[in-house]
Amino acid sequence: MSSKITQEKILILDFGSQYAQLIARRVREQNVYCEIVRHNITASRIRELAPMGLILSGGPCSVYEKDAPQCDPEIFQLGIPVLGICYGVHQMIHHLGGSVQSVASREYGHALLTQIEANPLWECVSPTTSVWMSHGDQAAQLPEGFVAIGKTDTCDAAAIAHISRPLFGLQFHPEVTHSVEGTQMLRNFLRNVCGCHGTWKLEDFARMMKESIREKVGNGRVLCGLSGGVDSSVVAALLSEAIGDQLSCILVDNGLLRKNEAQQVIEVFSNHFRTDLHVVEAQRLFLENLAGISEPQEKRRRIGHTFIDCFAAEAKKVENASFLAQGTLYPDVIESGGSPDGPAATIKLHHNVGGLPDDLQFELIEPLRDLFKDEVRRLGLQLGLPEEMVWRHPFPGPGLAVRCLGEVTEEKLNVLREADAIVLEELRNAGWYRKTSQTFAVLLPVQSVGVMGDARTYENALAIRSVCTEDFMTADWSRLPYDLLARMSTRIINEIKGINRVVYDISSKPPATIEWE
Ligand code: XMP
Repeated sequence: MSSKITQEKILILDFGSQYAQLIARRVREQNVYCEIVRHNITASRIRELAPMGLILSGGPCSVYEKDAPQCDPEIFQLGIPVLGICYGVHQMIHHLGGSVQSVASREYGHALLTQIEANPLWECVSPTTSVWMSHGDQAAQLPEGFVAIGKTDTCDAAAIAHISRPLFGLQFHPEVTHSVEGTQMLRNFLRNVCGCHGTWKLEDFARMMKESIREKVGNGRVLCGLSGGVDSSVVAALLSEAIGDQLSCILVDNGLLRKNEAQQVIEVFSNHFRTDLHVVEAQRLFLENLAGISEPQEKRRRIGHTFIDCFAAEAKKVENASFLAQGTLYPDVIESGGSPDGPAATIKLHHNVGGLPDDLQFELIEPLRDLFKDEVRRLGLQLGLPEEMVWRHPFPGPGLAVRCLGEVTEEKLNVLREADAIVLEELRNAGWYRKTSQTFAVLLPVQSVGVMGDARTYENALAIRSVCTEDFMTADWSRLPYDLLARMSTRIINEIKGINRVVYDISSKPPATIEWE
C-alpha cells in the first residue's frame, strides 16, 4: 500500500542500529515519508523504489569484521543523495576507496563539533555545536573527492562531504536529542540536498488509505477486534470512515479491563462511529477458566485461548466476513521482518497473548503498518477519537488478571479495578498521566496488620507501579511527587474495603519487569 502514498520518499538502510527507527521518526517529523530497508538492498531495487535520498544507519560492527554488514557499493553511483551516519559513513568511506581505523581514544557521548567548511548541511546550525558520538571507528583516509566539513577534538573528519556529488557522512548521531542541532542537519539533508518539500501529511495518508481499503474490500465485510487500546480503536475508526456499515467490530469483554473501559469503547463505536458492534459478554467464562490458577504463564495461556474461542465463535455469526483488520504498526513490521525490503527480523520478546490463529481464513487488512505509534495517536485524534482513548497507557492482553497476583477472583478484580481507577484519576488530576508511560495498581497476595479506628485489621496490600520508558524494553520508575502518592494512598485505603496498606514500586527494568507477573 505504501508505494502509492507519496512520491517523496527516503530509504533508511539499516545496518543493525538501535537508532534506525529513531532516524525514521525524525525524517517523518519533517513531513517526509520514509521506510527502513535492509542494508544490502540492491542498487537496482533502489532505482525501482525511486527514493529522493538514502540514509545509511549506524551499526555495532566494524567495516572490516568478517561478517560485517555491507551495502551494495553501486548505491553510491545512482546519483541519489546519500547521508551516512556513523557506521553508515564507514561504509561510504570503505566502498569508495578510503579507509577506516579503530581509534585508541574512543569518543563516546557528548562532543563539540566545529564546522570547517561551508556546506548545505550546516544551514542554520551554529558554527560549534554539541553532538553525540558512539563508535570506536573513524575515517583514517577519506576517499578521493571527499573533504572534512566538521571536526571534533578527537576526530578530524567528524563530518565529511564529496566536493561535487551529493554524498555526505556524519561520524556522530544527528537523530538523538543529545545532538542538539541534529534535527536541523537532517532537515537540511532532506530539504537542501534531496529536494524534499515535506509534503507527507497524515491527512493525505488517511485519505489514500481509505481509498485503498475501499478498493481492496469491494463489497466485502471486514471484521475488527476491539480491545480498548489505541491501535485497534484507530483501525476501527479508519475503517468505519472508509467502508461504513461493511465493518463489524467485536469486543470480547473478558471482565479484565480497566474501569469503564468497555463502556467507553461501546459508546464510541456504537454512537460516534455507528459500527455493527458485537459485544461478547464473557466475564463469567474467563473467571471460570481462571478458577484455581495462580501460575502467571498458565493464566496468560488460558486467557489467550478463551479469547480466541470467544472471538472465533462471534466471528462465525457475522455473515460474509472475509477480511480481518489488525492494528499492526510499523515497528511490528520492522521487528518481525514482515516487509519484503525491510531489515531482517530481530529477536523480540513477544507476549503473543490474544493473537488470532492463522486458520481463521481471513484476508488481513493492516492499515497502520506504515505508521509509528505517535502517528497513530495523531491519526486517532484527527478521526475524532476521544483524547483519553488515544493517549491511553498500554495495557496487557491478559489485563487485570496479571495485576491480581495469584488466583483471580471476582472480588479481587473488583478491588483492583477500583484502586486502579483511583490511581489513574489522581495521576490525571495532577497532570502526570502523559508524563508517565504506564501507571497502574497491582493487588498483592499479601496481608498485613493495620489499625482502623480502634480495631486491628488484617487486609491486603496494594502496589502502585509507574514507569517512564521509550520502548518498554527498559524502563525507569517514575519519580511521582510525594503529595500525589500520598493522595493515591489515602484515597485507596479510605475508599476501598479490603486494602490497608499501599506501597510504591521503585524497581527499574531490568532487572524487574514492568508488570508483576
Ligand atoms: P514487562 O512486564 O514484560 O512489560 O516489562 C512490557 C510491556 O508489555 C506489556 N505486557 C503484555 N502485553 N500481553 C500483552 O499484550 C502480555 O501478556 C503482557 N505482559 C506484559 C506490559 O504491560 C508492558 O507494557
